[in-house]
Amino acid sequence: MLVKTNDGSFTLKNQKYNECYHSSEGAVTESLYKHVFPAFDVAKKFNYYGGEIKILDICFGLGFNTFLSILNRPKDIKLQIFSPELDEDLIRSLKNFPYPKEFETIKHIIYEVSDNLKYEDSYVKIEVSIIDAREYIKSIEKVDIVYQDAFSLKVNPELWTFEYFKDIDSILNPKGVLTSYSVATPFRCALYKLGYNLYTHPYENIRKGTIASKAILDFEKVDFEEKLKRIDCRVLRDEK
Ligand SMILES: C[S@@+](CC[C@H](N)C(=O)[O-])C[C@H]1O[C@@H](n2cnc3c(N)ncnc32)[C@H](O)[C@@H]1O
Repeated sequence: MLVKTNDGSFTLKNQKYNECYHSSEGAVTESLYKHVFPAFDVAKKFNYYGGEIKILDICFGLGFNTFLSILNRPKDIKLQIFSPELDEDLIRSLKNFPYPKEFETIKHIIYEVSDNLKYEDSYVKIEVSIIDAREYIKSIEKVDIVYQDAFSLKVNPELWTFEYFKDIDSILNPKGVLTSYSVATPFRCALYKLGYNLYTHPYENIRKGTIASKAILDFEKVDFEEKLKRIDCRVLRDEK
């Protein structure tokens, strides 16, 4: 079901998960402010990892994170985007999705990803894989950015467990960054236990999310030690 969000962009409501792909704040707003802008700030701090940024987009969904990364690509920097997604029918339908006007310039990319699940030119490579993300992350090489954008912990728990983040940790560049809309304690606890520094973004009037890195960043730090004096650091675990 198509849903109009507060910034005017459209998202979908997924009937199986009974959740929208984006918050009411806005599909574009959420993608830009919770993922793309903070992640590219970190990439800039580390000189764009030598000129080529590798992004793991968990999971592709409507592709806002991938498409807005391309639209905001730093000049002369190559993006390689790898994204698992279970719902092949959704990807095949994206060429008919009512994206905002600013996506018009990359219409050819949207069409090609929707038809062939991949795209490549001199500056952008996209590979969408129809596979369970848990399996996928065991098979890929190191990445610099992880967009952690699964549905919520309640309905999509397999993509928020300690074991899942342990696998993510083994493929994330030590100067890399993970971004998420979520501020859920079991999610933050998993990253904290794995040695990540936790931050929130600096943008006013945007709901807080989480920015995590093993590197020291310039964002506002989440005082998690203080919080842990009051609560247990419980994580979600894989079901045995
Ligand atoms: C919140 S949406 C992602 C939104 C997306 N990043 C965007 O910008 O439109 C979550 C997506 O995760 C997919 N998904 C859920 N569990 C998955 C899994 N275990 N492996 C791969 N994809 C999964 C769903 O089909 C859905 O498309």
